[in-house]
Amino acid sequence: MQTPADLVVILGTGGTIAGTAASASDGVGYTAGQLRVQDLLAAVPALSSQRLEAHQLAQLDSKDMDVATWQRLAAEVAAHLARPEVAGIVVTHGTDTVEETAYFLHRVLAPSKPVVLTAAMRPATALAPDGPQNLFDAVQVAAAPGAKGVVLAFAGRVHDAVQVRKVHSYRVDAFESVDGALVARVEEGRLRVVGRWPAGEALGLERVTRPAVQWPRVEIVMNHAGADGAIVRALQAVGVDGLIAAGTGNGTLSRALDAALREAEAAGVRVWRSTRCDAGPVMALPGLLPSAGALSPVKARIEMILSLLGSTSS
Ligand code: SIN
Repeated sequence: MQTPADLVVILGTGGTIAGTAASASDGVGYTAGQLRVQDLLAAVPALSSQRLEAHQLAQLDSKDMDVATWQRLAAEVAAHLARPEVAGIVVTHGTDTVEETAYFLHRVLAPSKPVVLTAAMRPATALAPDGPQNLFDAVQVAAAPGAKGVVLAFAGRVHDAVQVRKVHSYRVDAFESVDGALVARVEEGRLRVVGRWPAGEALGLERVTRPAVQWPRVEIVMNHAGADGAIVRALQAVGVDGLIAAGTGNGTLSRALDAALREAEAAGVRVWRSTRCDAGPVMALPGLLPSAGALSPVKARIEMILSLLGSTSS
């Protein structure tokens, strides 16, 4: 008899969703990554009827997310997805870099089952924590027939890994699908699909197995009033393989920053233009440095690292 694929595997990595504060009224002076994923589940009795399996993969404040954790997470997600009884995966994470982890998993795995990241803006000890509802919703998405790809379930909405950005530093509804439609909404535990599930071709785990110290160094530089390009020369001096220019508007750069980036490019550094705007693509125009398309600077950085990992020998 075939086992029904109804198991949701939950991987804990820390974040505010697992954060605690000394006082329930303290929404900012807390420590992220304190509670274990099993404790988070215990706070959501409504999940007790679902088949769940929980593992603590890391316990980080996601501002400190690193390559080694990404590698372990991608390998673990891939291994659980390969189990026939697994419907989908939920990853609990901090909000600060969840969009980067989502994009990394999307490009490396492009899974045909759902991989649902979730997080919280308020610690678990808050007067009205948002984590339990987000976790409940994420499990519903991971178990939903037809769901696939890497998404973020947050504040009742499901965002795809490519578009999603944290757009607010404090608000409970802190994420937006900035350049297009949402994937879905979660209403009373039910999924209402309003867009498309993310799809794409997986680069594969082999692409990201090299030890972190051997990963290409790609940094982000920003255009701003008075940008003189000195930062580019300083980065070249310490050694850099790629640069993402977070330009103004349509990826525009001051004359001095543009000149410094072109010199870096001529010296073998890969350079792409993105935008410091909160949304929108950078148009590729003849004579300008290459565009990163609609990727935010942090996602363009991941894309360039993955591309350089594919083009350099180990
Ligand atoms: C973190 O990103 O781990 C801390 C902040 C948060 O989760 O909101």
